[in-house]
Amino acid sequence: MGIRIAINGFGRIGRCIARAHNALSTQEKKKMPIVAINTTCCDVNGLAHLFEYDSNHGCFKEEIKVDGNTLDYGDGIIKVLNYDKPEDIPWSNMEVDLVLECSGIFNTFDKASQHLDAGAKFVVISAPCQGCHNTMICSINDFILQDMLLKPKSDKQNRVLSAGSCTTNAFMPILYPLHHEIGIEMGFVNTIHAYTNDQNLLDNTHKDLRRARSAACSMIPTSTGVSNLIPKLIPDLEGKIGASAIRVPIPNVSLIDFTFVTKQPIKEDKISEIMINFSQKVPDIVAINKKKLVSIDFNHTTHSTIFDITQTTVSNARFCRVASWYDNEWAFAHRMLDITKKIQALGLRWRYISDITFQKMTLCIL
Ligand SMILES: NC(=O)c1ccc[n+]([C@@H]2O[C@H](COP(=O)([O-])OP(=O)(O)OC[C@H]3O[C@@H](n4cnc5c(N)ncnc54)[C@H](OP(=O)(O)O)[C@@H]3O)[C@@H](O)[C@H]2O)c1
Repeated sequence: MGIRIAINGFGRIGRCIARAHNALSTQEKKKMPIVAINTTCCDVNGLAHLFEYDSNHGCFKEEIKVDGNTLDYGDGIIKVLNYDKPEDIPWSNMEVDLVLECSGIFNTFDKASQHLDAGAKFVVISAPCQGCHNTMICSINDFILQDMLLKPKSDKQNRVLSAGSCTTNAFMPILYPLHHEIGIEMGFVNTIHAYTNDQNLLDNTHKDLRRARSAACSMIPTSTGVSNLIPKLIPDLEGKIGASAIRVPIPNVSLIDFTFVTKQPIKEDKISEIMINFSQKVPDIVAINKKKLVSIDFNHTTHSTIFDITQTTVSNARFCRVASWYDNEWAFAHRMLDITKKIQALGLRWRYISDITFQKMTLCIL
């Protein structure tokens, strides 16, 4: 059964998702069309222009038609809306099933669930979400989606999912196999991260005094929530992995720099072997780089993480350092789309049995 998608917030991530969606097969697009975009950023013509011309990902090849408050780039007519608050958006009138929340403004459970009040059936947030019970990192805990869809829909927690951050998606597929295979005693991850629209072009006010500073002029130490998910995903590493971020003056592509101490002595080759094996298990999520490349070479790549074998070092038998590249925009947009595909395949409307049926079934089981 098909699902109808809306994107809330048509900035870097929202637009990348729409472009990635456009590249799906016609059959896939029919099953999960984008029917609406809500954003505060500009009028429809401005939005079409930004969609067509992209400094990081190049020109959009299809013709884009603007007619009143609609956009059409060959995949059907998309309504463009301009609401500030999710609760006001007429999702139910448009029969929207799934909202991809990409504004960066509604990253808490209470705020994101306003989309449900407006009539959407499910929300996926493009960021870590305060107060949400469910976060899915593709290749690590994909089962969570099925769990949610089998639980009563009356509990809104079963209808709001965070996709984590680009950095969490890049780090977890490294941490997980390495810890599973070798055993990590402790570690520290730093992300050397491209700047984003949450920083200033030139010095200006910002609640974070470092993000207030010109993104193009400095390396900017800032926070990351990348270790917050560890207790949920790998409980025995709780409190053992520190994290930091440095925003650097490049517009896209970031690097995970992870140092750790293993429980047992380990060699560089063994680390490579573990990551190569894992990449073969999840080839769409993890790739391996063996060449002497630099960040721009990973622009417009779709893997959550591209493990750089050339960067692995082991000192003193147990002290290791590894590095992995990720396109923080394009790869993450593909994970949002992967989650959407899974929701479509699981059947959002069909899966939800009524709560009364659910209660009856539970009683039968008891
Ligand atoms: N950029 C990345 O690499 C990346 C990667 C993974 C996850 N994320 C996360 O994804 C989210 C979006 O990031 P982004 O980089 O795409 O940000 P962005 O480029 O600033 O895009 C956000 C868009 O949402 C619009 N918006 C603001 N308030 C809104 C509202 N009330 N309703 C609807 N739309 C609204 C903004 O319009 P205005 O211009 O009018 O404010 C802007 O166009 C953030 O939570 C971020 O942490 C970003």
